[in-house]
Amino acid sequence: MSANPHVFPEGFLWGAATAAHQIEGSPLADGAGPSIWTRFAHTPGMTVNGDTGDVACDHYNRWKSDVALMKSLGLKAYRFSTSWSRILPEGTGRVNQKGVDFYSRLVDELLANDIEPLLTLYHWDLPAALDDRGGWLNRDIANWFAEYGSVLYRALDGRVKKWVTLNEPWVVTDGGYLHGALAPGHRSKYETPIATHNLMRAHGAAVQAYRGIGKHEIGLVVNIEPKYPDSDSKDDAAAVKRAHAYMNEQYLDVALLGHYPPELKDIFGDAWPEWSAEDYALIKQKLDFIGINYYTRSVTKASDSYPLKASAVRQPLGTYTETGWEVFPQGLIDLLVWSKDRYGNIPTYITENGAAFFDPAVAEGGRVRDPLRMDYLQKHLKAIRSAIDQGCDIRGYMVWSLLDNLEWSLGYSKRFGIVHVNYGTQERTPKDSARWYSKAIATHGASVDDPLPY
Ligand code: BGC
Repeated sequence: MSANPHVFPEGFLWGAATAAHQIEGSPLADGAGPSIWTRFAHTPGMTVNGDTGDVACDHYNRWKSDVALMKSLGLKAYRFSTSWSRILPEGTGRVNQKGVDFYSRLVDELLANDIEPLLTLYHWDLPAALDDRGGWLNRDIANWFAEYGSVLYRALDGRVKKWVTLNEPWVVTDGGYLHGALAPGHRSKYETPIATHNLMRAHGAAVQAYRGIGKHEIGLVVNIEPKYPDSDSKDDAAAVKRAHAYMNEQYLDVALLGHYPPELKDIFGDAWPEWSAEDYALIKQKLDFIGINYYTRSVTKASDSYPLKASAVRQPLGTYTETGWEVFPQGLIDLLVWSKDRYGNIPTYITENGAAFFDPAVAEGGRVRDPLRMDYLQKHLKAIRSAIDQGCDIRGYMVWSLLDNLEWSLGYSKRFGIVHVNYGTQERTPKDSARWYSKAIATHGASVDDPLPY
């Protein structure tokens, strides 16, 4: 908590985030195995324009100049993810040293530039070889994941001090196992709770393994989207409760409180299994921090949607991003206060926050005017400061994203970067929002209150 109101706490970490599959490219280089995303994107019809991660931002070859770019923006931290199938091409067993070396060099370069690495083990790119063995539906995956984590803990824990097990398990299961929009593209109400549970068992096993090897901090990253009722009807109130339990409470409850919210049984009906006490004990490990990814809220009404029976309602006066998400900074305050009250004031990082907006072409002199993104960042940083003033223990902020990148099945059609990427030449151009954010970092947030330069 800050001693002076309206000042970001000392040590508050200012950074930006990316994920392996979204920026690296060269997915099969140097002995790496394929991931489910390589397969998914190469299946006709799965991504916008058939876009794949084969080249992406070519970060696999440009990592050094990308770190120089981070340094030039003044970033103090960089959140990235490692690709499981670069480290273990078959997902388990044989270690591919060249994959480990890639991340080891990246970490060295970050440290040489005084940028703190935050490493996420799983940002959705499951080794295809493990998917062939059932992927998140196979209970053995808890051990496979702990084995993978352990390889990296041993190699990097002296240098990486902040570890994350999973990024957004809700998206992995809702997108990958229930609605099929994301890899591996399944659509099954029966598989979804199993995938959820195995993700969380894997999280628990990876934290447990970390305690035996690592000496620093480990946590879990979830995406939270506060739900507000569309009307004061009883049906809408019940729909909000279901949607909130499904998206917001499901993963943090089981990780921090040791049980799932009761609404899940109603939502999934006969597809919701009973789990053992041993499983719950494995999942509930002490965490050093949580990471919250926040983009938007949802105003929710009762509906016949499958299986949630709740739907989002577009707000007539709302401002919406290019991905159709309402800009609603108050939701971030509400969720941080909710999380503090429900889970105790566990140290929290905002591990992603940002927006895709239409960006004009790079102008002469290398300028990209992105006033809406700047406005978005300003409003959300003010919201964070307000949550800190209300007693929330917020330790840092990572913009999503450092670079325009592969927006999963939306391909390269949506740009979230504070740095523009020309996919033809791979040229990077900091947008106005990057310059604005640099100043916020340099002033430790004091300039966040300045009027925007438009
Ligand atoms: C994910 C990112 C994604 C971003 C914007 C988050 O759900 O972690 O990988 O690009 O949202 O959709």
